[in-house]
Amino acid sequence: MCGIIGYIGSQNKGVESVLNGLEHLEYRGYDSAGIAFISDDKLNIIKEKGRIADLRKSVEITSSNLAIGHTRWATHGEVNKVNAHPHHSGSVTIVHNGIIENYIELKEELIKKGYEFKSKTDTEVACALLDYLYQKTGDIKESISEFKKKAKGAYAIGLILDNDKDNLYAIKKNSPLIIGISKDEKFIASDVPAIIDYTNKYIILEDGDYAVLNKDSVTVFDNENNKVNRKPRTFEGDALSISKCGYDHFMQKEIYEEPEVIKKTALTDIPDISNYDRICIVACGSAMHTGLVGKSLIEKYGDIPVDVEIASEFRYKKLFLDNKTLVIAISQSGETADTLEAVKIAKKMGSDTLGIINVKESSIAREVDNRVYTLAGSEIAVATTKAYAAQLEVLSKIAYSLAKNSKDASKLKEIKDYLEDLQKLPIIMQEVLDNEEEYKKVAKEIYKHKDIFFIGRGIDYALAMEGSLKLKEISYIHSEAYAAGELKHGTISLIEEQTPVIGIVSDKLIADKTISNLKEVNSRGANVIYLTTNQIKGEGDFYSTKLVVPEVNPLLQPIINVIPLQLIAYHVAKYNKCDIDKPRNLAKSVTVE
Ligand code: AGP
Repeated sequence: MCGIIGYIGSQNKGVESVLNGLEHLEYRGYDSAGIAFISDDKLNIIKEKGRIADLRKSVEITSSNLAIGHTRWATHGEVNKVNAHPHHSGSVTIVHNGIIENYIELKEELIKKGYEFKSKTDTEVACALLDYLYQKTGDIKESISEFKKKAKGAYAIGLILDNDKDNLYAIKKNSPLIIGISKDEKFIASDVPAIIDYTNKYIILEDGDYAVLNKDSVTVFDNENNKVNRKPRTFEGDALSISKCGYDHFMQKEIYEEPEVIKKTALTDIPDISNYDRICIVACGSAMHTGLVGKSLIEKYGDIPVDVEIASEFRYKKLFLDNKTLVIAISQSGETADTLEAVKIAKKMGSDTLGIINVKESSIAREVDNRVYTLAGSEIAVATTKAYAAQLEVLSKIAYSLAKNSKDASKLKEIKDYLEDLQKLPIIMQEVLDNEEEYKKVAKEIYKHKDIFFIGRGIDYALAMEGSLKLKEISYIHSEAYAAGELKHGTISLIEEQTPVIGIVSDKLIADKTISNLKEVNSRGANVIYLTTNQIKGEGDFYSTKLVVPEVNPLLQPIINVIPLQLIAYHVAKYNKCDIDKPRNLAKSVTVE
């Protein structure tokens, strides 16, 4: 939700490292930002509403060996300078990612002890509590240990003390926090991209850990406050994988990386999951949409019932889970709070859990019993594209692995060349990408509309949901995805002259049904964009534009069909001059409930 970073070293690079790191973390939230640093033994705190670029303009002093910074996605308190981090109280300054759930009662206790508050944030309360404990004990480590007992919720905290310019402190619970290690510089950060320009060596803190960093060493203490060695890791990507490489936006670059991602993810192994009676997929947003595609494929070819649950709903409903149900958690970031909690609930109820995760060693990756990594690399654009495609691929591999044991030979015949088709898929994906101008033309036709509909049947309905979400989240145009056969039960009343309706028709067996739904909306004035395959005829004058993609193995068709939808959304947003990689109100990883 937010991004934090901290620096301690001897190269006087604290300010630049923190500002640069924040720029790499902006995808986690970007409504306000701030930096605190010690320079000439003086604490400086500078905060701005808006982007890191606005903050940069306000920072004059550049030399510091101790600095912390924060880019915010507001959870408590409106978006303004006062609520921006860092927050300071007494002798303590902190930046924080997460939510202190019991901040109201803590605030009341601290007000009785004489503390005053300027902001509406839970973070300022956390800061005051740490200061209160530090004033009481005179020992920051003891204060942190006490803080962990009193503060409930999720926090990744960077902390500096007014009177200690040689140490940087980090505290971690239920929000991601890593420590970057370089020769005589140490970093804390919410995610690896923040430090990649300085080091690819890092440590992942576990829940309950806190750490004391100075320029030469890092000491980590576990939940019981015992010194512990956390395994140093090496980030396999590089700065290049985090740059735009000449594309106008990360989102476009990441769409074009999809063939490569599919090639890499094809090599992942799928665990044997043939001994379960049922599968329950739990996820949020686009990850949940891939779950709906997975449901369609796994049920049809794997012959096993699949439920798909929105994680935030799953957590609060009556569940029918047991040791014969496999719970599959799908998450690009591996940090989505609701999905993480859903995994914990599933494990408590005796189900095995399998993660389909993009970020290695993320919280969900470490919580599930087993995991398959999508090898999509760092996905910087808030709107997921390449990770979504890789998730579809893993789900197709799961469906194929189950189909091989299926007794229904006719189904197996349909997908018998899956492995060979998967090898060829990247080339066919590139052919679809090469038609970008066609999708750009569609975008130019529809970008001024205020309502845009996506319809489909079966697996195409699941894709319609993703096409609609992509459009909404980056272009701010209202859009709805509808089961094609359901439209006439009410929503068709919204169809007006030239209302854009994007119809996805890729299943030969039900193509005629969806085409007749498209004719219904067309006869009421809709501007139909017809997305179909080269093996489905469906001629007639019910559409203004026909987009044709190659027909491939049914298990892989969704990976092809989604590309035009992603590029149409991208170009609609571009024509509308939206902030494509960092859409308003959004964040890449929703680490709060
Ligand atoms: C996708 O474009 C959105 N940014 C969002 O729906 C995302 O898919 C959802 O928040 C789940 O995130 P996760 O995959 O990291 O768990």
